[in-house]
Amino acid sequence: MTTETQNPKPQKPVILSGMQPTSGLMLGNLIGALRNWVTFQQNYDCYFCVVDLHALTVRQVPAELRKRTLDVAAMYIAGGVDPEQSAIFIQSHVPEHAELAWILNTFTGMGECSRMTQFKDKSTQHSDNVNVGLFTYPVLMASDILLYQANVVPVGEDQKQHLELTRNIAERFNYHYSPTFTVPEPFIPEQGGRIMSLQEPQKKMSKSDPNTNATIFLVDSDDQIRAKIKRAVTDSGTTIQRSPERPAIGNLMEMFSIVTGGQSFADIERDFEGKGYAEFKIALADAVVDYVRPVRERFLKIRADVPELTRIVQNGAEKARRTASKTLRKVYKKVGLVER
Ligand code: TRP
Repeated sequence: MTTETQNPKPQKPVILSGMQPTSGLMLGNLIGALRNWVTFQQNYDCYFCVVDLHALTVRQVPAELRKRTLDVAAMYIAGGVDPEQSAIFIQSHVPEHAELAWILNTFTGMGECSRMTQFKDKSTQHSDNVNVGLFTYPVLMASDILLYQANVVPVGEDQKQHLELTRNIAERFNYHYSPTFTVPEPFIPEQGGRIMSLQEPQKKMSKSDPNTNATIFLVDSDDQIRAKIKRAVTDSGTTIQRSPERPAIGNLMEMFSIVTGGQSFADIERDFEGKGYAEFKIALADAVVDYVRPVRERFLKIRADVPELTRIVQNGAEKARRTASKTLRKVYKKVGLVER
């Protein structure tokens, strides 16, 4: 938008997204997010951050947080994000995130933050620690996005409300001063956007599910994956067919379709006609193992080379800062802060 007039080079549209380092990544992150990030890389200028500051809104064990932050960065690469092409960085390495968040806090209503369903959920879940950071969490997220003038933000369905708030904050600021921020669009994947829990198919598969049988982690061994799929709940009935009353088998079929590279439900139904759950689960387990194994192997290799991983996130942060500091400088000037 405004930057176009200052930069004659044709620019690619910008994508920014991030994940919290709150636990190891799981199959849903790979299918619902990482897989798409990889395809965006050709046509967009991509920024992928590990949002460690967001993780602090819930009490963390410091050593664990430090380890998991690097785990998630390594997993981005293992999933196919190319650090030569996209900026992979750690949120706290770019101090502009916290700085812009402060300014945006002054452009966000108490009422707006109170209406966020994630805040309501998390403050119930963590009722012993309802801190102000949890309340302004979506403002920090808005800052992540607006710093890079992101056009598109790939997120899960559960983050749609935060994106809407980001858009409102951007428009409010632009209206009050002058066009400053690009107003971002959410990208919410349709198919496979929601891989469901293996134990409760009405619930999204989550990396923080207390029941570890519900979730396939990307570091799970082949045997662990097979055991979890074997134990996955199924519906009453015995056939491999999709129907609204049978969410469990529908979820497993969706997973099968994705990990086999898009086999249609009609084909799956035909291939498994006359066969039962046991046979289907074995085929599914084989397919998931084949899908996850190369990612796990790449992850273990990348994660073992800490100096190289460190170099990658430092480069990423440098690239990110070049963009972020430009936006922040503009904002500071517009709101009337004395130049430093
Ligand atoms: N809130 C997001 C989640 O929990 C993570 C996140 C933080 C994010 N900042 C972001 C996602 C910016 C996209 C863009 O999933």
